[in-house]
Amino acid sequence: MTERRTMTRRALLVGVGAAGGAGAMFAAMGALGLAPDSQPSDYVPPQPSDFSLKGKGAAKVVIIGAGVAGLTCAYELGKAGYDCTVLEAADRVGGRNLTLRGGDRLPEKDGPDQTAGFGEGVYFNAGPGRIAQWMIAMDYCRELGVPLEVFVNNNASAYVYTRGMKAPVRARTARADLYGYIAELLAKASHAGALNRRLTAEDRERLSEFLRRFGDLGPDLSYRGSGRRGFATYPAIGDGVPLDPPASLAEVLSAGTGRAITMDFGFEQAAPMFQPVGGMDAIVTALVRAVGHDRIRTGTPVTGIRNLPDGVEVTHPGGAVRADYCVAALPPHLLARLPHNLGAQVTAALRTPVPVAAGKIGLEYGRRWWETEDRIYGGVTETDLDITHIWYPSYGYHAQSGLLVGYYNTEKEAELYGRLSPAERRSRALTQGKKIHGEKYRAELRSSVSIAWHRQPHIEGGWVRWPSYEGAFTLLQRPAGRVYFAGDWLTHLIAWQAGAMESARKAVTAIHERVLSTS
Ligand code: ALA
Repeated sequence: MTERRTMTRRALLVGVGAAGGAGAMFAAMGALGLAPDSQPSDYVPPQPSDFSLKGKGAAKVVIIGAGVAGLTCAYELGKAGYDCTVLEAADRVGGRNLTLRGGDRLPEKDGPDQTAGFGEGVYFNAGPGRIAQWMIAMDYCRELGVPLEVFVNNNASAYVYTRGMKAPVRARTARADLYGYIAELLAKASHAGALNRRLTAEDRERLSEFLRRFGDLGPDLSYRGSGRRGFATYPAIGDGVPLDPPASLAEVLSAGTGRAITMDFGFEQAAPMFQPVGGMDAIVTALVRAVGHDRIRTGTPVTGIRNLPDGVEVTHPGGAVRADYCVAALPPHLLARLPHNLGAQVTAALRTPVPVAAGKIGLEYGRRWWETEDRIYGGVTETDLDITHIWYPSYGYHAQSGLLVGYYNTEKEAELYGRLSPAERRSRALTQGKKIHGEKYRAELRSSVSIAWHRQPHIEGGWVRWPSYEGAFTLLQRPAGRVYFAGDWLTHLIAWQAGAMESARKAVTAIHERVLSTS
């Protein structure tokens, strides 16, 4: 009896696992709510009936910023009939969720405007481009009716190219060689007894069996190449022509191709990922439709925020909006610059996160040579050049034309490109990409647009980095008077729409609880 009472959930699961195996344990974990494999899902949207039970009414809320956080706030509050007004400084909605199509104009701080010259059906997700399955961005797509398709973030046929290579290698080749040699090293070390203190004879046998599979090793535990590397001519009627044999272990290690095989190991980037059909801004369009266009005022930069004894006042060049509560859903470094009466501690906290530079270039081509010639259908080429990645489109396969992301870089590399004119960025990106794809990369370019997020008006950063998640981060989770804060920057999901949505839900829940509990 005592034993049962003190049994922890972990002990229970260990017991279930021992008795019923992994399947039974997983079922039990699900029943205990331990393995949903998603963001925390205890959110309950506010609803009109919450008021009728309490005899309260929905309040008026002014939201600063029509990015994903601000729009999600307005959407969620709107479910319970809150009277929301969203003020957006830019002349468009969406914030960093930006999809550019032919004819779209892209302004830049201290830089020339660019106009996308893309043809029909071609688009460029200049901001977010992919969603992981466990993220609540998926739930919003379902709820809002935004159709999804696979985003190919890992493609064995894409390349890896590092400085010093004569030619790029396919990701499958790089992976086979690294896995093969690592497996050989470990298998031979184990066979020679180097792991005897860690492993029993039975463990060593199991390890050896796994490593043979993992590395496609020969009976002598050596790696000598494998069909996994791909072929010079693929098997058909004939049994194929192999590639040249693998380079030595030392050469493989010095090529530094590990970046290509680890890119989707993390929980945020694990394949498959997803994207809205037709462009990431489908999420913004759906949110705006649900919120109502009339509630959103673009071209309205906020000039001040003041807590009043019985409300809040947000000023802009055309006047002021008074409301019961405010959600400040704009980047912290911009918010810190606004005149307000929220206190010096809030200003200091808002100045704590450091804006991070990020940049992308969209390169449009009149024919999809990466599909027809390179046989790459979506995915990412990894490189240590300053372009860092090349993304191939996960839509429009076999269409007439298409668009690559010719660089997606951050920090120093993004600052370097950001300092260049759009024409210089394009030229540099083409010079780099040509090393991987050859002359067609430059010669066949049809049009391009590049974005330097740290130079985007009203945004001024790709995202932010917190020096520490203590202090300022914690302070800003709470409201300053009647002003609440929301954005991906207030979560551990920075640079993900899911972070902005989660933070919005938190602000909405806090406001709703306050409204319901205030007499
Ligand atoms: N969310 C960003 C990306 O997908 C960091 O690359």
